[in-house]
Amino acid sequence: MKDERNMKASIPWSLGVGLASLAFAAIVLTATSGGQPVPKQTRREFMRQKLSISKDVLEGLALEQFTSIEKNARALKRLSEAAEWEIPSIPKDSDFALFTSAFQRNADELLKQAKEHNIDGATLAYLKLTMNCVECHKFIRHPGK
Ligand code: HEC
Repeated sequence: MKDERNMKASIPWSLGVGLASLAFAAIVLTATSGGQPVPKQTRREFMRQKLSISKDVLEGLALEQFTSIEKNARALKRLSEAAEWEIPSIPKDSDFALFTSAFQRNADELLKQAKEHNIDGATLAYLKLTMNCVECHKFIRHPGK
């Protein structure tokens, strides 16, 4: 009688241990994948995408295709809000954050000018955006200069 009770009790117990180790494995997996920096290839592709969209903006400006400029301005803004944009080694409160917010302001301005079909305004916003690309890269590559 006593043994039988022990048997019954031991089944849910082992099930519990099984579930607990599964949960533990899941936590470990999530923690390691979440904490890891974005693989270099992925980030490079992401950065390349940034370049490709900027080129599309230039094409839109050259052809006065305002819908295309609008679409690409939105895409640039969205990119700048993605996690891949952040560089783990750079503190969030540094100039990097300032460059990012300037970038987003320029993308917003580009979108606004494209909506208003103002080709000069859109071109100027694009110039500012391009200068921001270069300024941020200078900051990353030659810190302190
Ligand atoms: C707020 C900072 C910032 C801004 C603004 C920015 N970038 Fe970058 N960009 C980076 C960083 C950081 C890297 C390097 C990432 C790395 O090596 O992991 C990079 C790398 C690149 C690369 C190189 C990718 C490769 O092949 O290795 C390209 C191309 C690029 N950016 C294009 C642009 C363009 C075009 C713009 C403007 C439309 C822009 N970036 C604006 C931060 C920025």
